[in-house]
Amino acid sequence: MFESALDFDEVSIHLGGREILSPTSFSVKPGEFVCVIGPSGCGKTTLLRAAAGFVTPSGGQVSRKGQAIMGPSREVAFVFQDYGRALLPWRTVQANVSLALEAAQVPAAQRQARIARVLETVGLSAHAGKFPAQLSGGMQQRVQIARCLAQEPALMMMDEPFGALDAMTRESLQDELARLVREQGLTVMFVTHDLEEAIYLGDRVIALRANPTAGEPSLAAMLDVPLPQPRNQLTTKEHPEFLRLRRELYQYLGHH
Ligand SMILES: Nc1ncnc2c1ncn2[C@@H]1O[C@H](COP(=O)(O)OP(=O)(O)O)[C@@H](O)[C@H]1O
Ligand SMILES: [Mg+2]
Repeated sequence: MFESALDFDEVSIHLGGREILSPTSFSVKPGEFVCVIGPSGCGKTTLLRAAAGFVTPSGGQVSRKGQAIMGPSREVAFVFQDYGRALLPWRTVQANVSLALEAAQVPAAQRQARIARVLETVGLSAHAGKFPAQLSGGMQQRVQIARCLAQEPALMMMDEPFGALDAMTRESLQDELARLVREQGLTVMFVTHDLEEAIYLGDRVIALRANPTAGEPSLAAMLDVPLPQPRNQLTTKEHPEFLRLRRELYQYLGHH
């Protein structure tokens, strides 16, 4: 039987007496890369937090492999935009990655090898002994991603992870992420407010509407991205299908 990695079944979320997410349903398949876009304040972070079990829905259910999610789990890793706050400044790169292993109570004897492996995966082997302040923003974000990989999660939740980086660094991290997600068979939900980033990385894009009102669902659109893999910063973005999707999503997002 086919199992989905994540299911949202009529999930609604109220916070502070307001409806942040109106009933929303979708499924994420194992190995799928799903991007979530929408204007600031539309509930992207809230949706991701619900998927990770940090927020309990007011209605409906979030489940993973058919099991309702009752709270945070080590199976789900969360990458925050603000790498500066996600990393401990007094710990070296390897000691920051080690946090995930300490939390999972991985025996000390096994930690070094796992840390070395994930640092190699994100290209930071040469910087294992440095402190976050000695690294560029892009490298710090790689450390956070390495820490998530060390957790060996089934699902990766990424909340605008490249939003604070310059354009060149962002593009190289997009390509690195796409490669390692494919290599490791990870399932990803990736929030961004950048349309092109969503199409470039996603197998599918979910667009949320700003300010859902009664009767208007949060989910504005769900589009498959049938662009060939591996993607390429030049050719993918010149592909007629890329331009068509960009135009369609642009319209859904309310730039009428
Ligand atoms: N804990 C909370 N209590 C009350 N309101 C919240 C809380 N968290 C988020 N919100 C509100 O929910 C809305 C959606 O927030 P968020 O999910 O962070 O949006 P996005 O990530 O799309 O910018 C915002 O209006 C925000 O102020
Ligand atoms: Mg947000």
